[in-house]
Amino acid sequence: MADDIKILVVDDEPVVIKSCKRILEAEGYNIDGASGGREAIIAMEQKPYDFVITDLKMPEVDGITLIKWIKKSRPDTGVLIITGYPSQETIKDALELGIIDYVPKPFTPVVLMDVVARAIEWKQRTLPAEAKKKEEEFPPSMMAELDRMISSYKDKPGSLIPVLQRAQEIVGYLPPIVQKRISRGLNIPAAEVHGVVSFYSFFTMKPRGDHIIKVCLGTACYVKGIEEVLEKIKENLHIGVGEITEDRKFSLEAVRCLGACGLAPVMVVDHDTHSAVTPKKVMQIIDEYKTVGAKA
Ligand code: FES
Repeated sequence: MADDIKILVVDDEPVVIKSCKRILEAEGYNIDGASGGREAIIAMEQKPYDFVITDLKMPEVDGITLIKWIKKSRPDTGVLIITGYPSQETIKDALELGIIDYVPKPFTPVVLMDVVARAIEWKQRTLPAEAKKKEEEFPPSMMAELDRMISSYKDKPGSLIPVLQRAQEIVGYLPPIVQKRISRGLNIPAAEVHGVVSFYSFFTMKPRGDHIIKVCLGTACYVKGIEEVLEKIKENLHIGVGEITEDRKFSLEAVRCLGACGLAPVMVVDHDTHSAVTPKKVMQIIDEYKTVGAKA
């Protein structure tokens, strides 16, 4: 139940806290705000939170100091960051501390809801009992190949990304159970493995269909009406974001910017970019892929 989930939003810009509250409370989440790291620590000393969404650049106690405190004193609280500087360097520092994911500023309601929903799903799916159940779903030979591959990279610096790439080739995707094996095998915190998987769009945590539909939920596309396009796809294919159709033909993914804002609203199917997509023509575009085999 969403109202059981308590989230603390930490930002020195009141407008960010206000927007997060408005968006997430409408989804039923329980939201509190703190204007900086110090206030956040005081709040967390009084009440447990499932997640903290924090800015990185704040006066006095900044986001990185806050994350370090959370990892030490409240290790069960998941951390998401919200940043206006989502460069690989800043994200890398935060990933090394074990954040789950990040939200770039400015963000759209859909992006924020998507990141929070995926964080909750990840936390639930990484519960030990659930993980054990999922492990049985993979053929033992596949798991043995995975373990062999992981151990061949053990103790080699910088091996996480190549291992994730090879693991995705072996299993087809990177579900929590695969991430946990990699975390154990390479001796890297599970949250760091998950953070890298979420950061790079070529990694996926869900099985993929023959054709991958990527819908851009970035600001330019959002303003030009991509939300209606997304609804139309969901309604017609009977799947949600992150899901795969029953016939395994299509999987639907939401991305934050495809780098083609001038063509907004944009959707990519396999390697083809479709610009100025409308709810009216989107299914026509998708139908053209129904008879085509998977593209490499
Ligand atoms: S916001 Fe959609 S391509 Fe940039």
